This record gives sequence, structure tokens and C-alpha cells, in this order.
Amino acid sequence: MDVRVDGKVALVTGASAGLGERFVRVLHRAGAHVVATARREERLEALAAECGDGVEAIPGDIADPDFRAALVGAVAGHGRLDILLNNAGTNDDGPLEDETLDEIIRVVDVNLVSVIDLCRLTAPWLFAAPAGSVINVASIYGVVASPGPMAGYNATKGAIVNFTRHLAAQWGARGIRVNALAPGYFPTEMTAHFEDQSLTDSIRKRTLLGRVPGLEEIDGPLLFLASDASSYVSGHVLVVDGGWTAV
Ligand SMILES: NC(=O)c1ccc[n+]([C@@H]2O[C@H](COP(=O)([O-])OP(=O)(O)OC[C@H]3O[C@@H](n4cnc5c(N)ncnc54)[C@H](OP(=O)(O)O)[C@@H]3O)[C@@H](O)[C@H]2O)c1
Repeated sequence: MDVRVDGKVALVTGASAGLGERFVRVLHRAGAHVVATARREERLEALAAECGDGVEAIPGDIADPDFRAALVGAVAGHGRLDILLNNAGTNDDGPLEDETLDEIIRVVDVNLVSVIDLCRLTAPWLFAAPAGSVINVASIYGVVASPGPMAGYNATKGAIVNFTRHLAAQWGARGIRVNALAPGYFPTEMTAHFEDQSLTDSIRKRTLLGRVPGLEEIDGPLLFLASDASSYVSGHVLVVDGGWTAV
């Protein structure tokens, strides 16, 4: 089966780096028109220029409700939204007792509130597509808890998993599939401490496959959920973790 998304319109958040940048390239190469967003305008513009026709850069802060409304205004120009990929994410760091409330609110705004609100705002355009697919990027730390102190991150990723199942229930009758992608550790800016040998060692020990993944190993799972290859899959959490959470 040739997995393609030709002619589909996709919105990818967190598109300036890491997994999101990768997702833009993958969806574009598979035939989608991609609206790419994140705060770093130059990186988005460079990505759009490199991809050529079919990638549109709309820079802004996804935690800002006015920006979200403007972003959806741009999507509305296409008359439909086939793929909503809620990928933007951030993490907190440190024992909870040392964190500020502002830090927690920042993580909740980016990782959870913006995801729920973007689903809400794009609903009419998802409903206008013949077979809409929403993909929320969770984490293995939405399925199990992290030993490292990231209270906001763990809380929001767990919430994303159940929000995904719930929205799949709400929108199933409308023909919209809602799924989550839950990556293990992938080498990106967020996991830059990958260079730390102890983390690499622990990934080798914890994963059943015994190795750190390449960024390209997320391509297949993403395309599966985005395309008609998963036309009977909804409310699912696709864990891509080399077996980390299996045992
Ligand atoms: N890498 C992993 O191992 C891993 C594992 C599990 C889950 N995940 C999840 O995968 C997703 C992508 O992570 P990543 O590793 O690719 O992270 P990353 O390299 O740090 O990239 C995060 C992306 O989110 C964007 N972003 C953050 N805050 C934003 C805001 N306020 N407004 C708009 N955009 C914002 C960033 O763009 P700007 O800074 O330009 O705004 C960037 O494009 C996240 O949801 C993360 O939790 C990653």
C-alpha cells in the first residue's frame, strides 16, 4: 500500500524544530498542503522555502488565544482541514516545590489548553473535510510517569491521552478520527541532554530494541495516523518507544 495524503490540507504546530519540522517534511512529501506554525519565524520561512510549493508558514505563539484564532482564519481560506497535528510542546524542569505557578501555567497552556482550543476552533473545517484526522502528540509520559521531575509535563501528556479518547467519542459520528502519537525519546531540541551519556545508556537499557531511535523512525507512525491507511482507527494511542513501556 502506498501511503499518501495527496490533496489533503494539514495544520502542523511546533513546526520550527524537532519532530514538528520532520512532520512537515513527511506530510508535504506525501502530497499534503501544509500550514506550519511555531514562534520562530525565520526557521519556519526557511522550512517553507526549502519545501517549495505547498508549505505555508504562519508564525506565532500557540499559547495566545488571539493567535490561535488568526491561525484558524488562515486555515479557513482552504475551506477544509484534513489533518490537524497538535505537536507543539514544552516541558518544565525541577522538583514541583521549586517551580513557580507561572511555569506550570506555561506548560499547561502550550501542551493542553492550546490543543483543546485548536480542536474546538478548527472543528468546522475538520467537519468540512471528507475524512478528517486529528493527531495529538502525547508522550510515553502520558502513559507511564517519568522518574525525572516534570510535573506539568506528566500531567498535560496524561490529559492529552484521555482528551484524545474523549474527542474520538464526540466526533466519531461525524467521521473524524482522533488519535494520539506517544513517542519515547527522540533526539530533538527538547531532549538535547541526549548528549548526556547516562540518558543514552538508560534508553539502551529501558527499550526492548536496545537503542536510541533515528528521527525518521517516527515517519511511518505519523503517516499511518494521518492517512486513510488508518481509516478504521480512532481513540488510539500509538506508542513509538522501542518497547520502553511494554514491560
Ligand atoms: N523528542 C522527544 O523525545 C519527545 C518524546 C515524547 C513526546 N514528545 C513531544 O513531541 C512534541 C515535539 O517535541 P520535540 O521533541 O520536537 O520538541 P522541540 O524540538 O523542543 O520542538 C518543540 C516545538 O514546539 C514549538 N513550541 C513550543 N512552545 C511554543 C509556543 N508557545 N508557541 C508555538 N510553538 C511552540 C517550538 O517552536 P518555537 O520555539 O519556534 O515556538 C518547536 O517547534 C512535543 O509535544 C513533545 O512533548 C517529544
